[in-house]
Amino acid sequence: MVAPIIVALGGSLLYGDHDVKTWLGQLRQTLVHIEGNGRKIGIVVGGGKPAREGINLANDVISDRFRLDEIGIAATRLNATILQKMLQEIGCKVAPSIPETTSEAATMFDSFNIVIMGGTKPGHTTDAVSVAFARESGSAHVIIATNVSHVYTADPRKDESATAIEEMTLDELSAITGTESLKPGQSAAVDPIAVQWAKDALLRIGVLDGRDIRRLEDALEGRPFEGTLVRPE
Ligand code: UTP
Repeated sequence: MVAPIIVALGGSLLYGDHDVKTWLGQLRQTLVHIEGNGRKIGIVVGGGKPAREGINLANDVISDRFRLDEIGIAATRLNATILQKMLQEIGCKVAPSIPETTSEAATMFDSFNIVIMGGTKPGHTTDAVSVAFARESGSAHVIIATNVSHVYTADPRKDESATAIEEMTLDELSAITGTESLKPGQSAAVDPIAVQWAKDALLRIGVLDGRDIRRLEDALEGRPFEGTLVRPE
């Protein structure tokens, strides 16, 4: 059996300044097309605005970082439910519940074509979940769809000289992200824990701007895509 395609969809794609309703329709069409071609797909949905706002609100009254992470996880599962219901509505063979672990998610491919999930445990983000999900499903790579075009040499919002990288190794990526885990709700080009897990499993990572459905579609179909390709070596 061909391995499922695993993609992390950043929560910013559901709550950004782009035309989210049109984008959701395009995403739905793309997923129907992939399912029609007999491919299986696993989607890990990020928390976006509800995670950020929930964690911000709770920050004043909750100091325990695991509890704050759990609020973020609840938001990712809310967003996963939105996509899962959208696909159920049009008759896709999508798993009827949101799995709580990546091994449970991988098992669901025995019976379903599409598996949608959110976060799992405190201490990492959905980027890392997607890496674990790929490993459990026998997939050699993961697509991280976010709201930036590439991984940059530095944060382009802070450093004008930052340039986009088209191809790099996981070691080079971890030199940029660092190795320390992110704080609850803190965002980064790619979660350092995801990079470490990808190194351990020798997985490739594709990072791209998911707001442009064509780029996402290229990566999902295994074609060259506009974005950053991160190789194990
Ligand atoms: P996200 O995975 O959405 O973070 O998790 P992100 O990638 O930085 O943000 P978007 O989606 O691209 O906007 C949101 C928060 O939920 C908690 C963390 O606190 C994280 O910052 N979380 C998520 C976990 O603790 N564990 C998980 O498995 C997933």
